[in-house]
Amino acid sequence: MDNRPIGVFDSGVGGLTVLREIISAVPNESIIYFGDTARFPYGPRDLAEVRHFAFKITEFLSNCEVKLIVVACNTSTAASLEDLKREFDIPIVGVIEPGARTAAGNTIKNKVGVIATKGTVASRDYEFAVKKINPDIDVYQVAAPLLVEYIERGVLDGSDLKKLICEYVEPLNQYDIDVLILGCTHFPIIEGGIKSCCNEGIKVISSAVETARDVRQVLGANQIKSEKSLKPGRIFYETGNASKFLEISKIFLGTEIKEVKKIKLNMY
Ligand code: DGL
Repeated sequence: MDNRPIGVFDSGVGGLTVLREIISAVPNESIIYFGDTARFPYGPRDLAEVRHFAFKITEFLSNCEVKLIVVACNTSTAASLEDLKREFDIPIVGVIEPGARTAAGNTIKNKVGVIATKGTVASRDYEFAVKKINPDIDVYQVAAPLLVEYIERGVLDGSDLKKLICEYVEPLNQYDIDVLILGCTHFPIIEGGIKSCCNEGIKVISSAVETARDVRQVLGANQIKSEKSLKPGRIFYETGNASKFLEISKIFLGTEIKEVKKIKLNMY
C-alpha cells in the first residue's frame, strides 16, 4: 500500500481527458495534476524544448512526493518519455505505447492511422511503437494542429469543424486503414465527429483509455495502490495567468474543478 498521489502532467487542460480515464480506472488514488498553460500549445514546438519543459515539470512533481508520474500529453511523451525514465527513479507512464499496443492488437488489415500534433507526427513515435510490436503493420500519420485550436475555443461540433476533420481524415481513409489512433489529448472530446469522417469499419482508439489501464497495471505490479478507505485528494496546478482552465476543464474532465493553484516554475 502507498497513499502518495499520482502526478499527471500536460501542456494544459488536454491531459484531463487522460485523468478522467485514470480516475475511472483507479478512483481511490489521489492526484496532483499539472497543466503548463503558460507554454501551451506544445504541439508546434521543437521537441527538444518540450523535452526540457517535461524535465522541469517531472522535477516539480517528484518534489511533491508522487509515487508515479503519467505524461498525459502525446507531444511530451514523444519528446521525453525514454529520457525521463532513465533520469527519474520512479515509475513513469506515457500515452503513446498503450495506444500503439491496442492499435496493433486490433488491426486486421495491418494498416493503422494516427491523427496527432505536428510534434508527435514529426517524432514518428507511434509508428516506431506499433512497428516494435509488429513490423508488418503500416502506420500512416496526419498532423491536425487546427483541431486543437478549435477545441480550445470551445468549438466541439458544427459544419466548419466537421469539414476540417474530414479533410484531415480523408488521406487516412484513402490508405484503407482499419484502426485510427487519437494521438492527441484533445481528440477524445470530438471523437464522434472524427468517427463520422472515418470510412465504415475503422475502429477509433483513444490513448487515454489505454493509458489508464496501464496506470492500474503499474500500480498493481509495483504494489503501490492506495488504501481503499481513504478519500482521494485532487490538486490542480497551472502555470498560466490568464488561462481559461476552470472554465473549460469541465469539457475535458467531465466534472467541475473548483480550484486551480497558480504556480510559477522557472522553465528556462
Ligand atoms: N497535449 C497535447 C498532445 O497530446 C496537445 C495540445 C498541445 O499542442 O499542447 O500532444
